[in-house]
Amino acid sequence: MQEARTGFSSKIGFIAAAAGSAVGLGNIWKFPFEVGESGGAAFVIIYLIFCFTLCFPLMVAEIAIGRKTQRNPVGAFTVLGHGKWSFIGKMGLFSCILILSFYNVVAGWCFGYLVEILLGNFSIGEQFPLFVKDIIKVGGYSVIFMATTAYIVSKGISKGVEKAAKLLMPILFFIIILLAAYAMTLPGAAEAVEFYLLPDFSKITGKVVYNALGHAFFSLSLGMGAMITYGSYVSKEDNIISSAVAITLLDVGIAFLAGLMLFPIVISQGLDTHGGAGLVFMSLPRVFGDMGTVLGTVVGTLFFLLLSFAALTSTVSILEIPVSYLVDERAMKRPKAVWLVAGGIFLLGIPSLLSNGYSSFFTQFVTYFGASGPTDFMTLISDVASNSFLPLGGFLIALFVAFIWRKEKLFKEISNGEKGHPNRFISKFLGFSITYLCPWILGAVFILNVLDKFFGVTIY
Ligand code: PHE
Repeated sequence: MQEARTGFSSKIGFIAAAAGSAVGLGNIWKFPFEVGESGGAAFVIIYLIFCFTLCFPLMVAEIAIGRKTQRNPVGAFTVLGHGKWSFIGKMGLFSCILILSFYNVVAGWCFGYLVEILLGNFSIGEQFPLFVKDIIKVGGYSVIFMATTAYIVSKGISKGVEKAAKLLMPILFFIIILLAAYAMTLPGAAEAVEFYLLPDFSKITGKVVYNALGHAFFSLSLGMGAMITYGSYVSKEDNIISSAVAITLLDVGIAFLAGLMLFPIVISQGLDTHGGAGLVFMSLPRVFGDMGTVLGTVVGTLFFLLLSFAALTSTVSILEIPVSYLVDERAMKRPKAVWLVAGGIFLLGIPSLLSNGYSSFFTQFVTYFGASGPTDFMTLISDVASNSFLPLGGFLIALFVAFIWRKEKLFKEISNGEKGHPNRFISKFLGFSITYLCPWILGAVFILNVLDKFFGVTIY
């Protein structure tokens, strides 16, 4: 017997949860550095164009598929495409299991840093290579992170996912505004903003363009059914378009604020802005230490609290996907499904945990064609899942909506909401994007990414 499906109790609850899914490590940890390294505002402009022309229509489509079928991604494609198309949902399940397995490891680091900074250990940055090798410690932090995620998901949608998002998202928003405002008062702020936002079009290459799209995709949690799953809990009365606009704006806005917060801190301390993603874990703690014990502890703790909260609302959304599958399709009780999947994914993440220096086997796991050195297991999983499977998933979802389900049915579902009738311009735009832009551009991005990452063939 299937359990009765209860959903989000309000539109705002859905937006908080879906924005919580979108806003994650991708926004705060990765986005600012991609901007810094890829032409500042020029990259931001390209990123924004992708978010609104390709990602937004696909988000509307994912939410509508979920709401129409009231099912997890596998069930949803089975219902709409008569079974044959359920492989898209299964691929999504596969991607989300892989993504959560390594995402939880990085989330565990964030949580570990929160504890270390709270205890005043500002030299944790220099100890990073040792920290990630301390398997008992980082393993413990990722267990705690996964268990917290599982606890929230086990409480169900309105009492777990929605409640957590409604609590965590405003706090997250408050912290990031506070830290960005503080960053603006630092001596190098003007220079930092200039570096961050001055467009440098000479840095825009083909690779930067498809990286921007890949990142927009990951950041908006698209391509693997996260939005289908959350969409399946949305009330028939809600307006999907305005919800999707709000989610996209929140995601983009927070990524933007993350840059405004990080660059002044980095530049005021004379750090190299090209430090990349490692900068957050390696250099920032010292920066906090240099602010003095009290201020440093406050700002540092807030920063890692922000990262941990952002990661948590994302891990919750990823775990919900396989859980909803087991509950809907396999008639499993939610708590059992939650702990089973969370435990399984944690075990799958162990090689990623070991691949940052602890085990040389996993640290130097493969060498891609044409690459100069070996790649670790965690990067491999991230390259396969986030850089390849998500664009492929997006490509297939767009194809499915355009040619199997058909855009008229999509519009019908969107119009279900009382105030949700899409106006002519919006429906024209959505139809055009889903039929002509998404499939071909996403298909191309998938191929270009695979060639670039795994075969060393970079096409500009
Ligand atoms: N969007 C999240 C981030 O930016 C990651 C994520 C990807 C979450 C896919 C759910 C699904 O970090």
